[in-house]
This record gives sequence, C-alpha cells and structure tokens, in this order.
Amino acid sequence: MLSKIIDGKKIAKNIIHNIKNKVHNIIKKGHRPPGLAVIWVGKNKSSQLYIQKKQIACNKVGYIFKTWHFQEGTDIFKIIKLIKILNKDKNYDGILIQLPLPKYIEANQIIESIHPKKDVDGFHPYNIGCLVQKIPKLRPCTPKGIITLLEKYNINLKGLNTTVIGASNIVGRPMALELLLSGCTTTITHRFTKNLKEHIKKSDLIVIGIGKPNFLHQKNIKNGTIIIDVGINTLPNEKKIVGDVDFYSVYPKVSYITPVPGGVGPMTVASLLENTLEAYEKKHQYED
Ligand code: GUN
Repeated sequence: MLSKIIDGKKIAKNIIHNIKNKVHNIIKKGHRPPGLAVIWVGKNKSSQLYIQKKQIACNKVGYIFKTWHFQEGTDIFKIIKLIKILNKDKNYDGILIQLPLPKYIEANQIIESIHPKKDVDGFHPYNIGCLVQKIPKLRPCTPKGIITLLEKYNINLKGLNTTVIGASNIVGRPMALELLLSGCTTTITHRFTKNLKEHIKKSDLIVIGIGKPNFLHQKNIKNGTIIIDVGINTLPNEKKIVGDVDFYSVYPKVSYITPVPGGVGPMTVASLLENTLEAYEKKHQYED
C-alpha cells in the first residue's frame, strides 16, 4: 500500500539539491550567486532558530547570506533606512524581515518598505494583491510550499472542498488564496467561526495552523480527508515538537497527511530559496 504520509523533508531536499546545481552553473558562468538579506529585531528564541535554518540552507546551495540584528526598542525608521539601502544593493535579490516583530513595531510599515521585487516572503501588499488577482509573483513561502507538496503527490485540487483553520497573514490568508487559485472551494475559519465542526466534516482537504496541539481529531473529519498540519508546538516537559493535529487518531481516516516534524516546515525554507532564485533570475532578465 502507498504511504499516506507526505514526505516534505524528502521533497524539500530534492528542491534544494536542484537549486544547488543551478547556483553552481550560475557561478561557473562567472556571475555572482543569488543573495538573501535577513533582518531581525529583538530576541525571540524561535526566530533565532528559523534564521539559523535559513542560513544553513542558503550556505548549502551557495547563496550570499547576511543577517542584520537590531535590539528591541530600535527606532523603526532606522530599520526602514537599512531596508532602503538593501533595496538598491546589487548583492541582494531578497530581503526578509523575520516575524514576529516586537509589539511596538507596525509590521506592515516595515514590509511595505521592502521593494516588491525583493520581497521573497511574498508579504508585500503588491505580491499579495497579485495572488488575489490570479497573477502570482513572489508567493508566501509556507502556502507555496504546501501547494508544491500537493502537486508532487499528484493530488488534483480542482473542485475540492477545503477548509483553512487559522487566518494569519503568514499562513491562513495566503493559503486560502493559493487553494482558490488551484480551483478549490475554500473556507477560511478563525476564532469567531461558529460552526467549525460542520466545515471540517465536509472538507476534502484541511490546512491547519493555529498553534494548538492535538486540536484536530478523527471524530470530526470524514474518511479520505487530506490533512496539512502547519502547527509547530512544543509540549511542556517534552522536547519533541508536535503539530495541531492528533496524528495517530486521524491517521486511519486520512488519504494523505503531513507529519510534524518533516512535513510543511522544510518546504517553507525550500520555497524561500526558490523565491530568492526567482527574484535573482527576474532581475537579470531586466538587466540583460
Ligand atoms: N515567522 C514565521 N514564519 C515566517 C515566515 O515565513 N517569514 C518570516 N519573515 N517570518 C516568519
């Protein structure tokens, strides 16, 4: 029997391997490799870990990678000033501001100061607007990575009833737009949704990212559902991370499921590398 587990780790590894070959060819032709600039503010522990993962992946494929760190309390205009310099810096094709930002900073103000063509997170209103209008440019990494996973497993999305649980700017909202673009009938649910169980029960595919361990159970889903778990939770007194899905309870009923870890997580990084390469290639198209 075919495995129902979607192996994000393996697919991400393949993507990274292919990018590494492309960068090798770029360098062989005498060009500079793609470059990613990462800015972070404060000392959020998870952010440090995520940046480390991005750095390891960039080093692996041969990208230029540099981080800029600001202490919590830094004036927002100082950060925007750096972004404006990086917008013009020919060594960097992508600029990423690690989220979450400390509360005193208005994230949108920062994100909007990134040039849309260097916005490899795909969070700039221009890039989100392009996704809304069915002309995707740079696409948010986690939802893009999820679509890649579903494509690699030859899952036909046209006409599926899908529910996205969680309406964040990073995952839920752009995920719903991606599913819509792929021909799904999509519902976004959030903390004010009244009849969540009803939405879940009629779903062919569920994407969940709310940060609540074991939130989704087998008794709520129908047979054959595809489940994509974006949750990353650390249980108290346990070192391992778990998703938002009660994996072992839903497993007998699902047709496909992403594990945590090793499902969506590695794809976010792989998509970031893809977006950085895309920004690099587009820039060179204009310049040639
Ligand atoms: N924090 C959690 N996920 C992300 C992401 O995809 N991009 C950025 N910039 N910050 C994040």
